Amino acid sequence: MNFVIEHLEEKLYPWCLLEYKHISQIVGRKNLIFTCIKSAHKVKLKSFGRVECRSVLDLNLKPVCFLDPSSKKELSPEDKNKFDYLVFGGILGDYPPRQRTAEWLTGQKVETRNLGTKQMATDTAVYVAKRIIEGKRLNELKFLDTLHLATGKGEEVILPYRYVLEKGKPVLAKGFLQFVKKNGF
Ligand SMILES: C[S@@+](CC[C@H](N)C(=O)[O-])C[C@H]1O[C@@H](n2cnc3c(N)ncnc32)[C@H](O)[C@@H]1O
Repeated sequence: MNFVIEHLEEKLYPWCLLEYKHISQIVGRKNLIFTCIKSAHKVKLKSFGRVECRSVLDLNLKPVCFLDPSSKKELSPEDKNKFDYLVFGGILGDYPPRQRTAEWLTGQKVETRNLGTKQMATDTAVYVAKRIIEGKRLNELKFLDTLHLATGKGEEVILPYRYVLEKGKPVLAKGFLQFVKKNGF
């Protein structure tokens, strides 16, 4: 399976880079394509995967499925045989969710799937999709719906997104906690 991240943010924020590096570690560099990347930013991503300036919508990749929280159909292990490409929005989480993925796909005649209705960060969504096409069903995975992070200054940062748990711990990018503590959210 190939994983495609369509970068839909105005800039390539440090937070995006942290998530994109994590995605590369999850799926492997050879199975990852970043699309809609400005030429000036290509160099920052080329060690993580293939980099394309064009939108995935212009690449004619087939058979393809777009992961969208507002899709009516859940991704299932059987979809492994149906699709060669899974596409994710390179969108930073927003609260309340703004349905930017659905907006982006408005008017497109494409297959879509959800991973439940709760909003996950792009790297979490990729991790969950990979587990599903490897054979797990969504309801067999464990999740945490809000992450509370102590900053160490008597304060905490609350991230109102869904995180997947492995052995009781949220799967987070290396350096995630330090990044949030330093930059806030
Ligand atoms: C942070 S989410 C974007 C959320 C944004 N608020 C929205 O409503 O589209 C980034 C990407 O992860 C994937 N994603 C996150 N949660 C998902 C879910 N529950 N179902 C399907 N895809 C999801 C989608 O591809 C989405 O574009």
